[in-house]
Amino acid sequence: MSQVWNAIADWQNRRRMLAGRSIGFVPTMGALHRGHASLVERCRGENEIVAVSIFVNPSQFNDPKDLDQYPRTLDRDLRLLESLGADEIIVPSVTELYPNGYTFRMEPDSNELVLEGAHRPGFLQGVLTIVLKLLNLVRADRAYFGEKDYQQMKVVADMAREFFLPTQIVPCPTVREQSGLAMSSRNLRLSPEARHRASHLFRVLSKAANPTEARATLEAEGFLVEYVEERWDRRLAAVFLDGVRLIDNVPIPENKPPSS
Ligand code: PAF
Repeated sequence: MSQVWNAIADWQNRRRMLAGRSIGFVPTMGALHRGHASLVERCRGENEIVAVSIFVNPSQFNDPKDLDQYPRTLDRDLRLLESLGADEIIVPSVTELYPNGYTFRMEPDSNELVLEGAHRPGFLQGVLTIVLKLLNLVRADRAYFGEKDYQQMKVVADMAREFFLPTQIVPCPTVREQSGLAMSSRNLRLSPEARHRASHLFRVLSKAANPTEARATLEAEGFLVEYVEERWDRRLAAVFLDGVRLIDNVPIPENKPPSS
């Protein structure tokens, strides 16, 4: 049976009781989908205790409208986590996690101010700050991050290494709908028609010869393209469709010459 912790002090008491057991941690912002479920399942298979946090972190939203519109489905999330065998569910309020406001911040390296770091000012800073707080509170052996948010996963892993955090950051493959669309809480905001069109993002990224071609194809298909770039052996993109911001990434495709 899952236990839900709202007050940090209660969670900290509970954490003391878990000393000596292996702990896996999945940080989330709720609105859980099959992508999150796969992280929790993997966590369940590799640890004695599964801890999950649900917290919509205001400091990582540069657009207040985006924060307001972020889907919140707490009852459903708790039922899903219970069915997946999560043991500890941490659901703190903003004042619990930021008792003195947004006072101390974790700065990413300036090399990270590309892609999400460039297009969402303060996003990486907000993510690193909250993840550091959560990792310190949970003190897990392993924490699981989806590769869909590739830059986030990478910068968190870099921070954990640089600061000698005791938690191993475990990257997990992107889970996709049958159409290829990467699972995301934001997909809930897409109309059925837009959801169908959104699946083209994955196909275009996987098939285009280069980022320029991918951008042109996406624009021709009605996407508003923020970036398509290649870094860290991945091809990564952020686009808007019907006002909803979607990100995805794939390994850089091998463009084999056509066989004669
Ligand atoms: O990927 C997310 O859901 C969030 O960025 C995270 C890692 C839970 C931090 O708020």
